[in-house]
Amino acid sequence: MATPVSIEVWNPNGKYRVVSTKPMPGTRWIRLLTDQDCRVEICTQRKTILSVDDILALIGDKCDGVIGQLTEDWGEVLFSGLSRAGGRAFSNMAVGYNNVDVNAATKYGVAVGNTPGVLTETTAELAASLSLSASRRIVEADEFMRAGLYDGWLPHLFVGNLLKGQTVGVIGAGRIGSAYARMMVEGFKMNLIYYDLYQATRLEKFVTAYGEFLKASGEAPVTWRRASTMEEVLREADVISLHPVLDKTTYHLVNKERLSMMKKEAILVNCSRGPVIDEAALVEHLKENPMFRVGLDVFEEEPYMKPGLADMKNAIVVPHIASASKWTREGMATLAALNVLGKIKGYPVWSDPNRVEPFLNENSPPPAACPSIVNAKALGLTASKL
Ligand code: DGY
Repeated sequence: MATPVSIEVWNPNGKYRVVSTKPMPGTRWIRLLTDQDCRVEICTQRKTILSVDDILALIGDKCDGVIGQLTEDWGEVLFSGLSRAGGRAFSNMAVGYNNVDVNAATKYGVAVGNTPGVLTETTAELAASLSLSASRRIVEADEFMRAGLYDGWLPHLFVGNLLKGQTVGVIGAGRIGSAYARMMVEGFKMNLIYYDLYQATRLEKFVTAYGEFLKASGEAPVTWRRASTMEEVLREADVISLHPVLDKTTYHLVNKERLSMMKKEAILVNCSRGPVIDEAALVEHLKENPMFRVGLDVFEEEPYMKPGLADMKNAIVVPHIASASKWTREGMATLAALNVLGKIKGYPVWSDPNRVEPFLNENSPPPAACPSIVNAKALGLTASKL
């Protein structure tokens, strides 16, 4: 039996009841909902990960839509509960939705929203930060300093890797992977090798043009290559960043065998989803190869780390913060709220979910559309002409 959970209520007399399973950054998202006759209930329970029962209790008997989080298990039970309560709208406050059973949602006629287009640069910047921190051993050096161990400059102290002229490898060159690649190529003059099922034409053009610019300025040009296998990237790159979506084909994409293909001093970064790496195999690899370094934002069984990972000096670990810039998190909250609002109001679905700027402009009302509904086609929702 579901237990009651604590909530904060906005616009108590609103016609539509919208629940957010967590307080979210900013206030615009609340205003956008209350201005459109929504009663907004925000769960304030001091519990990081809500259980299915907690969420069922929040949904209650009458609920028009829910904004949820990537830590929650949105499957058959929750979508049938939401549908019973009259709800037809759900949005994850995330671009990834591997926590959502989209088929179950579709079966119950519930639209599933996500928040692309607003995380790209922020996530790529974290991947770049982890690449830099790992290559220059920033965290190890910081700990050493704070521990009072620094007693003078030494030729061998925290020697790391130079990025300039090295090769950056990107696995999954979609929006975030391409933005990361550009940062590393443009910022550090690294050469690029990437693997993706689709050709990253814009990225290739950018690296070509940048290479020509450098050449014309008398500098060594940067180069790019699209690898025909992922293994080529693993073998050749000095820094590798993972940006695939998590599905059956990418589960444990980086396993013991593939780790052994990588250079002994390579750097591996993961800001996608934890299960893309076999974390137990990674711990063993880190133990056996002290100069191999890793920067991880995500973990196989969040919020936990596999035994031994926390003890590894050659691992930098941060708690799933890749999208954690104020602008992005407020934007994600806004897009999630507008997905739910749009479905409640019967608005069409925005034609390009990656071009979400019009929804984020604080100085004008957002378009009358749902920014991004992943099962729009399956539900037969109309596309916006705007
Ligand atoms: C997402 O949106 O999928 C991210 O992982 C959140 O940081």
